[in-house]
Amino acid sequence: MGGGGRGLRSPSLAQRQALGAWGVLFLDQPVGGPRMHLLGAVTGAVVSVLVAWPLAAAAEISPGRQAKLRDMVDQDCGSCHGMTRQGGLGSPLLQEDLVKLSAEAVVETILEGRPGTPMPPWKFMLSREEAAWIAAYLMGELK
Ligand code: HEC
Repeated sequence: MGGGGRGLRSPSLAQRQALGAWGVLFLDQPVGGPRMHLLGAVTGAVVSVLVAWPLAAAAEISPGRQAKLRDMVDQDCGSCHGMTRQGGLGSPLLQEDLVKLSAEAVVETILEGRPGTPMPPWKFMLSREEAAWIAAYLMGELK
């Protein structure tokens, strides 16, 4: 029969290094059996992380940061849109003023601004998750 046991090709050092700890665990298992279980487990974990990520990211804005964002809406946005968001240099930002826009459009407006108007882009100061939080806050979808 000779040496080369079916499927037990031993991984090269480069392969082990490229794959890191998971790869070593994975490649050292015999074909079939535990190796396949491990593959399933790893794939499952990756898939659930990818699916949960956007929601988790929006929910992960800390209470402290949320307080800062509320302040920012009052002070910074308020300097143009009015402290009570009734409008000023900027259009009113009350809930009823924003129903004509999708949440996505509000997020884009916050991040990119409105070129050719005084509405500045905020993407240098806010992440997309934070802009989404502000949009939800303005649109009355948060407490
Ligand atoms: C320097 C003044 C200024 C500041 C500061 C400012 N805006 Fe604006 N914003 C405007 C103006 C002017 C418009 C109207 C643009 C147009 O004519 O389409 C506007 C439009 C908007 C709109 C679209 C409203 C609509 O009905 O189409 C949103 C949403 C908005 N701003 C959110 C914000 C938020 C949130 C902040 C703070 C993070 C902010 N703005 C800060 C001037 C400002």
